[in-house]
Amino acid sequence: MDHNRRTSPTERPLSQAEVPTDRLHLVVRAVTALIFCFVFGFAAGAIEPARAAESAANVDAARLIGADQDPANWMTYGRTYCAQRFSPLAQIAADNVNLLGLAGYADFDVDRGQEATPLIIEGVMYVSIAWSNVRAFDAKTGKPLWFYDAKVPRRLGVRGCCDAVNRGVAAWKGKIFVGTFDGRLVALDAKTGQPVWSVMTVDPDKAYTNRMAPRVIKRVMIGVAGSEYDVRGYISAYDAETGALAWRFYTVPGDPSKGFENEAMEMAAKTWHGEWWKMGGGGTVWVATSYDPELNLIYFGAGNGSVWNQHYRSDSRGDNLFLSSIIALNADTGAYVWHYQALPGEEWIRLVFAADPARGIAPCSACHGPGGYKLGARALQHQRTTYIESQLLAFAQGMRQNDISEQVRTIARQLTPEEMHAVAAYYGGGL
Ligand code: HEC
Repeated sequence: MDHNRRTSPTERPLSQAEVPTDRLHLVVRAVTALIFCFVFGFAAGAIEPARAAESAANVDAARLIGADQDPANWMTYGRTYCAQRFSPLAQIAADNVNLLGLAGYADFDVDRGQEATPLIIEGVMYVSIAWSNVRAFDAKTGKPLWFYDAKVPRRLGVRGCCDAVNRGVAAWKGKIFVGTFDGRLVALDAKTGQPVWSVMTVDPDKAYTNRMAPRVIKRVMIGVAGSEYDVRGYISAYDAETGALAWRFYTVPGDPSKGFENEAMEMAAKTWHGEWWKMGGGGTVWVATSYDPELNLIYFGAGNGSVWNQHYRSDSRGDNLFLSSIIALNADTGAYVWHYQALPGEEWIRLVFAADPARGIAPCSACHGPGGYKLGARALQHQRTTYIESQLLAFAQGMRQNDISEQVRTIARQLTPEEMHAVAAYYGGGL
């Protein structure tokens, strides 16, 4: 999964059906324009005048390690290597934030999902937009400096579980790096936006997409997205000058008969069952990495399994390493150092098949069947996730009750909001 599909019901973005059209229009407008907000009277004094022509994206290891002491620039995803995102700039504060107003805006020209945080380096703002295109602006005036069109074939849009989004660019020694929706990593000249090199980072016949902001730590690192489909997750590191592949770390084991890439994969394979590699396994890496220069470790998260249902993915058994895990690698070699698995087995939908008797929960499948259709209970097949979820809430809160609903009410009262969303997403196909 490559989006917020598993957030709690209150945090989920409104879908078209839930929002009146005029409000939807406003929402779309808001995300497709880059808005320059300044405090009136301060004129954004922290931002330097654009000096793209002389020293574009002049960022190196020393500058990135010291990024916390350089608050006028935002040189890497999350601002610092530890990605805390906190700016110590104090000009905009609680007592003057009410004076913020629109000073200008630049249109992104494409009404699709926008998820990137811009970088600001020496007064130039670099931002990736939908379809992996990149724009550079004078950060003070909003004047467009250049535009890079990644020319992603639009027919590949079907590979995106969650729109053609891109989460940001990386900067390093005069170059801007972007991962493209069709699986390339492209280095651009920061002064002109012209491509310097481009490498294909995935098997183009599989439904991989590149969405994450690359991170440069000695080399350019980029992970893959696509765990809704038949892919195997990994993160790779490329030479920033040449684009040569330096190392690649897979997050889930491949076909054991072909041998394992490293000891970590051998260990991970012991936690999988059945023929998982035929479905890819998932565990894609689509949010940015962070880095500890003292320990020389990089950290990143690996996502959900492919296919979602552990029953098919791993015979309903095993931890399925390294799905839903935080992984730490040696930044020079990409070798495994440690992991922490947040959800062993990545089994969000166990309630659908297995009861939790301690909490008085019978499996949904007992009454609704594994596919959502079984005589005797209402059909969940072809219902929307939002509908299923809202009905579970209605049962739990006693808003929906009749003679036959007592059992489902008892169950619904026991479910946490996350569990309600997970079972609803299972039957609703995630939509
Ligand atoms: C013991 C049998 C039983 C179990 C177990 C059960 N349900 Fe139901 N469910 C029912 C019955 C019966 C209804 C019809 C209730 C009604 O019409 O008010 C129902 C209704 C529903 C509805 C409303 C459907 C509609 O069309 O409005 C949803 C949603 C639902 N169940 C979800 C679940 C989920 C998810 C689980 C597992 C966590 C679950 N149920 C477990 C028997 C069950």
